[in-house]
Formats: sequence, structure tokens, C-alpha cells
Amino acid sequence: MSSEMKEKKYPACARSAKWREDFPIEWDGDHYVTRREMVKFLTLGSLLLASANWATVVAGKLLDRGSKLERQIGPVSDLDRDGSMLFRYPTEQDPGIAVRTPEGKIVAYSQVCTHLSCAVVYDKAENGLFCPCHHGLFNLQGQPVAGPPTRPLPRIRVEQRGDRLYAIGMEG
Ligand code: FES
Repeated sequence: MSSEMKEKKYPACARSAKWREDFPIEWDGDHYVTRREMVKFLTLGSLLLASANWATVVAGKLLDRGSKLERQIGPVSDLDRDGSMLFRYPTEQDPGIAVRTPEGKIVAYSQVCTHLSCAVVYDKAENGLFCPCHHGLFNLQGQPVAGPPTRPLPRIRVEQRGDRLYAIGMEG
């Protein structure tokens, strides 16, 4: 755009000749970006992205630390009476299930099926965790053995202290 056209289009600019004297701008070269400016822009952009990446990693670590919260999830006698016990861990929105295996070990998993998130239940006859939605089945190691699920159930580490069972962290 020529300077006459600009003066027609922006008459206020044309009248304020004082600032033009102080800060002379070549309008034609206004959008010209020097190599130095480009390098500065790329460097700052890269630093910004690196900072965002770092912040994401730190936030992930903090959330992971949150999942290592210890929580009492119930009396072991309830688990032994019913064969399994439902609880919430690590938050009140996360259902979990603990099962006493035939070998006498206590294992616990997220109750959320890894196929489409239905709740799995303990199936004593199948010796596994059954998902009624699409007949998925997980063994007591949390591995999918039948039906559509292909990913294992997230494992919850548990610890028995007397008659009390504690969830002490998520695995994986
Ligand atoms: S949601 Fe569990 S098998 Fe589909």
C-alpha cells in the first residue's frame, strides 16, 4: 500500500506527523521479519513448548503421587465371608474389587472393565473377574482371558494389617 493510500485510509495517522518524526516507520518494510527476529521467535517458542512439556511431566508425577495414597478399604473378615469386597480407590469415583484367591492371597483391581468400562464382578465358578456387559473375563492376575477385553485390569496394591485391608497404591 502506498503512503498516499495510507494517508487517505488513515487520516489520523497522516495528521500526527510528530510521532512520525520521532519514530519513523517505513510502512512498506513493516512486515519484514529479519533472520534475527525469526531465530528469536523460534527460540522463545521452543522454550515455551519445553516449559509446557516440563509442567505436564511435573503434573503427571504429582497426580501419580496422589494415587499412592493409603486408604483403609475394609475388614478382611468381610472379604473372606463373601469371597470379594468392593471399595473405592484412589478416589470416591474409582470402584475397586478385592478378591481372596484359592491360594489364599488377596489381590485387588480396578473394577472398571478395560473394554467399555462396565463393572467387573467376582465369579467364583470361573475363578476370575467377569464383566456382564459383553461377557469379558479376567483371571485373578487381572489378565483378559475371554471376551472382548484385550488390556489387563489396573492392579491396586493392598496390604493386610490385622483384620484391616489397606489399599496402598496403583500399579502400572
Ligand atoms: S465392557 Fe466389559 S466386556 Fe465389554
